[in-house]
Amino acid sequence: MTICGLDFGTSNSTIGVLHNRVQTMVPLEQDAQGNWQTTLPSALFFGFDDDEISFGRQAMVRYTQGESGRLMRSMKSLLGGSFMGDTTQVKNRFYSFDEIIGFFVGSLRQQAQTFMADGSSLDSVVIGRPVFFNDDDPALDREAEAHLAAIAKIAGFRDVSFQYEPIAAALDYEQQVKTEELALIVDIGGGTSDFTLVRLSPERHLQADREADFLANNGIHIGGTDFDRRLSIAGIMPEFGFGMPMADRPSLNMPGHYYHDLATWHKIHLLYTRDVQRELQSFRLTVSDKQRLDRLIELLKHRKGHSLAGLVEQAKIELSDRSETQVHLDGLFTDSNDISVDSCTLTQQLLEQSLQRDVEKIFLALNETLQQAGVSAQQINTVFTTGGSTALPMVTACIDSAFPDAKQVAGDLYNSVGSGLLLEAVKRYS
Ligand SMILES: Nc1ncnc2c1ncn2[C@@H]1O[C@H](COP(=O)(O)OP(=O)(O)OP(=O)(O)O)[C@@H](O)[C@H]1O
Ligand SMILES: [Mg+2]
Repeated sequence: MTICGLDFGTSNSTIGVLHNRVQTMVPLEQDAQGNWQTTLPSALFFGFDDDEISFGRQAMVRYTQGESGRLMRSMKSLLGGSFMGDTTQVKNRFYSFDEIIGFFVGSLRQQAQTFMADGSSLDSVVIGRPVFFNDDDPALDREAEAHLAAIAKIAGFRDVSFQYEPIAAALDYEQQVKTEELALIVDIGGGTSDFTLVRLSPERHLQADREADFLANNGIHIGGTDFDRRLSIAGIMPEFGFGMPMADRPSLNMPGHYYHDLATWHKIHLLYTRDVQRELQSFRLTVSDKQRLDRLIELLKHRKGHSLAGLVEQAKIELSDRSETQVHLDGLFTDSNDISVDSCTLTQQLLEQSLQRDVEKIFLALNETLQQAGVSAQQINTVFTTGGSTALPMVTACIDSAFPDAKQVAGDLYNSVGSGLLLEAVKRYS
């Protein structure tokens, strides 16, 4: 029996296998510097010229090099949402989103099997899931898990089960715990923020039934892709006409939904249609600043929405350790002289202002986790952080001020959940 743990993330995915009795995170792809990485960006590219599908960094490279095709990112955000089960047209074929997620999950399984190089087939998997795929609707939440289970079975797994992502991170962290402690696990990724309050110790780690150790789990559907959206709306979308009034009716603005979709990773493709081009051309007759709208029209015509979102994400990351950064919008337009766009400055102050409400909501959900268990902040010994968005200084500052007496341990941002899922898989299936 071959066993693995699979962290299908909104932004990055990992797969860990039990290989020659050793628990190993599979090296999935080389980065631009040629170093093997255990993360695969959750991205997929359908090439229109060769009908080849690429995944991860390779998918992003093909897209950014301007190859004709369709990029998909943040596919996990479709699970539990109103698009779940929908189809989308790629060239002249319709694919369900489940099928597309299936291509990605199937490629992770295939890569792990290739890595093991002994012809073994991966049968049993523990897949990570956020505490809530949908914050408000338990039926949609259950449906999302059922979709992911069906996708994994079609991808070739025989035994499929789930574990909450923050519980997996707790199990990973517990390997370095020396004495009993009460830990709060904080996993803020690309799509969701998830929390677990747990008693950890080397002795408890060995026990079969951990039910009583996990005191509370909670989560909220806010993560790094929402931060990208907020920053984009506040600092970039106005350059493309967001909020601009109509010339003939100054009380009326250009409709906001185009900009919200353009700033939302998993909705960008909705704008690459002839209907949207037609609508935007008709607004051109009435907007106050045609140049800004022309930027939007050109951007969508050349399907550069994901490139723009990538620039915003990059700027957000750069603002982790500098007070301002430039977003070079001019690189998005190769041969358009008449839309006059250069670079745009984004500041840490703007980032913090635009994220403030989301971060407050995340910390409300975090506090609810403690309330559910009747535990006070002073009782927490350790706050363990994982997930890319915990690198944000405003997140660590909030943790510092909420838990001044607790030890703050920064885990591996990208592998902690995956390692814990593998530990769980070994426990369940071996
Ligand atoms: N230094 C940084 N500052 C701010 N955000 C960052 C930084 N580094 C990475 N991120 C963000 O972290 C997110 C990705 O984190 P991660 O890979 O943990 O998410 P994920 O596991 O794919 O998502 P989820 O678990 O929510 O499904 C992205 O939104 C990325 O922009
Ligand atoms: Mg994650």
